Amino acid sequence: MSTNDHVATAGTTPTAPTGKTLSLQDVTTYLRVGRELKPVILRVDLHIEPGEIVGLVGESGSGKSMTARTIGGVLPKGAVAEGKLLLDGKDLFEMSRRARREVQAKEIGFVFQDPRAYIDPLWRVGDHMTEAMRVHLGFSRSEARTRAIELLDAVGIDQPERRMHQFPDELSGGMLQRVMIAGALSVNPSVLLADEATTAVDVTTQAEIVKLLGRLSVERGLSVLFITHDLALADIVCSRVCVMYAGRIVEVREGRQIFDDPIHPYTIDLLAARPTIAHRVARLPVIKGVPTSAMDAPAGCPFHPRCRFALDECREGVPAMVPVRGGMARCFRAHEDLAAMSAAMSAQESTQESTTESNFSPTSGGRDAAHG
Ligand SMILES: Nc1ncnc2c1ncn2[C@@H]1O[C@H](COP(=O)(O)OP(=O)(O)O)[C@@H](O)[C@H]1O
Ligand code: SF4
Ligand SMILES: [Mg+2]
Repeated sequence: MSTNDHVATAGTTPTAPTGKTLSLQDVTTYLRVGRELKPVILRVDLHIEPGEIVGLVGESGSGKSMTARTIGGVLPKGAVAEGKLLLDGKDLFEMSRRARREVQAKEIGFVFQDPRAYIDPLWRVGDHMTEAMRVHLGFSRSEARTRAIELLDAVGIDQPERRMHQFPDELSGGMLQRVMIAGALSVNPSVLLADEATTAVDVTTQAEIVKLLGRLSVERGLSVLFITHDLALADIVCSRVCVMYAGRIVEVREGRQIFDDPIHPYTIDLLAARPTIAHRVARLPVIKGVPTSAMDAPAGCPFHPRCRFALDECREGVPAMVPVRGGMARCFRAHEDLAAMSAAMSAQESTQESTTESNFSPTSGGRDAAHG
C-alpha cells in the first residue's frame, strides 16, 4: 500500500480533501535545440490553492503546455527547468530525480485535449483505469477494479461495471474525456492539469466537463490548472486567470476582472478577437502579426511588434510585473486605461473603414460619383 496519506483505501470513499498548494516561483524551462538550450517558459510565477481552478490562457505556442509539462515532469528529453516548483511548500526541483518522479506520478494528474491520442485503443477502459493504481499505489487487481468503478461513477459514467470492459472506440469523445479525468484521479492526486481538456468536445459536453472539474476541485480539494486558448471560457471557469505570451505571464486577475477591466494590450486584443453573438457577423478584429514563442521573441517587450501602444522603451527593456487595479500586469503602460483607448481607436478605425467602403462601393461608383 502506498505511503501517500491522501490515497483512500480501495472500496472506500476518498478521505476528506486535505489538498496541497501548488506554487511555481520564477520557473524557467529550456528545451535542447541542437547544441543550445532555448527557453520555452520564462520566470513563471503561478499559485493554486486546494479547491481552486486557475486559468492559463494564450495563443498557440505561448508556452501553456510547456508550463503543464514542467509541473508534471514530462518535458522532452534534454529539457532543463529551474526556479522553484513547490507542492505543499516542498521544492520538487530540489529532490532527487527519482523522488521527484514519484511525487509527480502520484500527486499530479493530466487531462489532455484529445483522449484518443493518449489512450491505447487496444486497452479496455478497465486496463486504463487500473494501471496507475497498480503501478504507483501497489493496489491488487480487485482493489484497483473496485476503486476504478467508484471513480467512473464519480465522473458521471453510467453503468461503470460494463464500461470497464469496453474499448475506447466504443465511447463518445465526451465519455472518453470523463474516463481520462477518472484515470487522472485514480492515484488521488492533489493537482490536476487540464490542458485544453474541453477544446475538442461539443459545447454541451464542454459545459458538462467544466461543471465536473468544478465539482471535483471542491470535493477533493484539487488544485486545478485549466489551460485554454479561450479567455472567456477561463473567465467563467476559473477563480483566477493568468494570461501568457511568449512564455511569460503578462497579466493575472481574479474573478471577472479580466473580462470587465483588462489591463495588458495582449489581453485587450484577445478579448476583442473573440466572437460573441453580438459581434459575430461584423468583421472580427484579429490581433495583428503572429504570436511568438519565448525562444523566438524579440528584444524588449515581446508583444511590441503587435502592440498598438508600443513606445520606444518597449523595444528595449522587458517590463516587470506590477500591481494594477487589484491584479498584476507586465506592461510599461499598465497604469493607463488602455482598454478604453483601444475601444476608441477601434471605433475610429471602423468609421474610417466604413467611410472608405461606402465611398468606393460598386453601387455608389466611388466618391466622385456619389457627390455627383
Ligand atoms: N517538442 C518540442 N521541441 C521543440 N520546441 C518545442 C516543442 N514543443 C514545444 N516547443 C516550443 O515551445 C513553444 C511553446 O509550446 P507549447 O507550450 O506547446 O505552447 P502552447 O501550449 O501554448 O500552444 C512552441 O512555440 C515551440 O517553440
Ligand atoms: S510594454 Fe509596451 S509593447 Fe509591451 S504591451 Fe505594454 S505598451 Fe505594448
Ligand atoms: Mg498546448
